[in-house]
Amino acid sequence: MQLILLGPPGSGKGTLAADLEELYRIPHISTGDIFRRNIREKTALGQEAEAYINSGDLVPDTVTIAMVDARLAQDDCRQGFLLDGFPRTLVQADALGRMPVLRNQPLTAVLNLVVRDETIIKRLSGRRMCPKCGRGYNIHSQKPAVAGICDDCQAALTQRADDQEETVLKRLQTYKEQTEPLIAYYREQGLLFDADNEGTIEACFQAVRQLLDDRLSRS
Ligand code: AP5
Repeated sequence: MQLILLGPPGSGKGTLAADLEELYRIPHISTGDIFRRNIREKTALGQEAEAYINSGDLVPDTVTIAMVDARLAQDDCRQGFLLDGFPRTLVQADALGRMPVLRNQPLTAVLNLVVRDETIIKRLSGRRMCPKCGRGYNIHSQKPAVAGICDDCQAALTQRADDQEETVLKRLQTYKEQTEPLIAYYREQGLLFDADNEGTIEACFQAVRQLLDDRLSRS
């Protein structure tokens, strides 16, 4: 199964991807996670990406496309993959369509998570991360057992630098200008499926699971 998760910042792509990865046993490839790992490890890629990410802009297409092309060429993607946060521009979508991995493994579906801006702003202001193990929490919906402390490794939870309200608003604007056109792009190809994520995490997961099961049974 070859999936793309599309949706505005904070629409729940990473949360849903974790459940789909476990269900379908396909690698979850999050461009945001790859950039953040490179920033933590102070690689050249991380140094190039950091200023763009912290100001709510996109990392340039050339850098992002080369990074994803290399990742999709790895052996674990031969049985499928789940792209979270890529593509985000029409240039990236065209480049993905030309990547060798898609020749024998066409896209199964593009899932477009639909969430209102007010919900996104609330969820992102409540998001917390464990800096040690990477586990995600939310002070509204995914609380740790002890406030501010990771359940798994007891580290103090932190907030992502780009989750400050001003940067979240910039990310939403960037999404509307550069990523939203992908909805029409994939709809025209018959690949796009909307998934409402205003309800619970479990409700969204079950709806997507049903949708993918239907799609697979027809192919
Ligand atoms: P990235 O990390 O991909 O950020 P994003 O797209 O803005 O998405 P987020 O990770 O913020 O949110 P999400 O949709 O995964 O939601 P989540 O599941 O965490 O990218 C970061 C940056 O990297 C970009 O801004 C850009 O600079 C750069 N970048 C990345 N890819 C790029 C590309 N292709 N090209 C160029 N630049 C690129 O959920 C959010 C919160 O809501 C969580 O706390 C979660 O617990 C909660 N939540 C989720 N669902 C529900 C629910 N149903 N009910 C209640 N709470 C919920």
